[in-house]
Amino acid sequence: MKITVNNLKDTEKIGKIIADCLEKGTVLCLDGDLGAGKTTLTQFIAREFGVSEYITSPTFTIIKEYEGRLPFYHMDVYRINSEDDMYDLGYDEYIYSEGVTIIEWSRKIKGILPEERISIEIERFADYARTMVIYGKGKSYDKLVKELKKYENTCN
Ligand SMILES: Nc1ncnc2c1ncn2[C@@H]1O[C@H](COP(=O)(O)OP(=O)(O)OP(=O)(O)O)[C@@H](O)[C@H]1O
Ligand SMILES: [Mg+2]
Repeated sequence: MKITVNNLKDTEKIGKIIADCLEKGTVLCLDGDLGAGKTTLTQFIAREFGVSEYITSPTFTIIKEYEGRLPFYHMDVYRINSEDDMYDLGYDEYIYSEGVTIIEWSRKIKGILPEERISIEIERFADYARTMVIYGKGKSYDKLVKELKKYENTCN
């Protein structure tokens, strides 16, 4: 499904809806060009998810760990050159854990993404406006679609 957000406030609302759909083992993939808003959306999700720390982009460390209502793992794989490098970082242990994992630039490792995941492609079309194309598979994804449809109805 496709959602349009007009400003940061809308992105925050979507972030909250996503946060409430995350469960043990959910993997959320965020794609979109530089400055699309992947980290910004992650910050809104984290706050609603109960992460008290302020999240910054893990561009150099690739993975950062936080604690919310469940463990919260934030990855930025922009600098990853091969999928093997991900395994060296313990990728499998993160995505098949009791926590939730958010992966910015997931398209760089698309060969090793789990089949059950939520994917969101963000596109900037004006200073503050974005489109978000959302697809995926699994329980968290099904729940998210249901909640986003409710949200859309309140907008119309
Ligand atoms: N509706 C919106 N949603 C998200 N970000 C927005 C929105 N409107 C403006 N912005 C701004 O766009 C910028 C998005 O930057 P952000 O770091 O989140 O992008 P990114 O996709 O993570 O980029 P990178 O690929 O470098 O990691 C921020 O400065 C944010 O404030
Ligand atoms: Mg980012």
